[in-house]
Amino acid sequence: MNAFTRSLFTFWSSSIGKKYIVALTGIVLFLFLAGHLVGNLLVFAGRDAFNGYALFLHKAAHGLGVWMARAVLLSCLVAHVAATIALTRQNRSARQQYESKNTLQASKSSRIMMWSGSTILAFVIYHLLQFTVRAGNSYDSYVDPEFLATTGLKRHDAWRMMIEGFSWFPAVFFYLIALTLLCSHLSHGVSSTFQTLGFNSKRSRGLIQTAGKSYAILLWLGFISIPIAIYFFKFGR
Ligand code: HEM
Repeated sequence: MNAFTRSLFTFWSSSIGKKYIVALTGIVLFLFLAGHLVGNLLVFAGRDAFNGYALFLHKAAHGLGVWMARAVLLSCLVAHVAATIALTRQNRSARQQYESKNTLQASKSSRIMMWSGSTILAFVIYHLLQFTVRAGNSYDSYVDPEFLATTGLKRHDAWRMMIEGFSWFPAVFFYLIALTLLCSHLSHGVSSTFQTLGFNSKRSRGLIQTAGKSYAILLWLGFISIPIAIYFFKFGR
């Protein structure tokens, strides 16, 4: 084992090392969510704006951009989940030796985080199958009719894919549940992240909790507005 592998191993074995991995990968994932939301809200700007944005994402850096982003996101997701599971196991065995009111409270909130995290993971798998892999539907064959009429060129109609994706109640229902759990997960995750990074004073704690909650609620409102507008208010239908 060389020096680098040894220090990586030591970092992973320590509780604080794993906490850092959870925090840093969490930051990447949560920044992605803000960008993803802004892009998705373009659905309200109409077919041309949304399809132009989707095409831009797929063509960025000659098509390499989207693959690089996928590689970073997937690595962060795997590291985030693996470090969380390892930390939970480590904490559980430590708790068996020493149980107090504080450790019981910590175990309750970490259990809630594990449950919301698992539902979000199931949601991400469903979401990727629906919109990225486009399994079991004909979304791939959708061609933007306006773009074809004005330019004579074919472009994927991601706008119609989104409208049809949210025209089915079970999918909308699952999205609303998963997005609500995501909001709770983020709200708690933001404070834990800052705590791990050392912002732990009494004054900063209150400020961070409020910022975390506000950010989570803003994301929640933004994301749920899309399935709600399409399914309940017939936007685009
Ligand atoms: C109402 C909420 C959401 C909508 C409407 C939405 C929409 C979309 C669409 C249309 C795509 C496909 C992009 C394309 O390939 O052209 C996509 C991809 C993706 N979404 Fe979402 N999304 C939502 C929420 C989320 C959430 C909450 C997460 C994470 C927890 C997420 C994670 C992803 C990921 C990882 C991809 C894959 C990006 C890629 O193609 O590589 N999305 N989303």
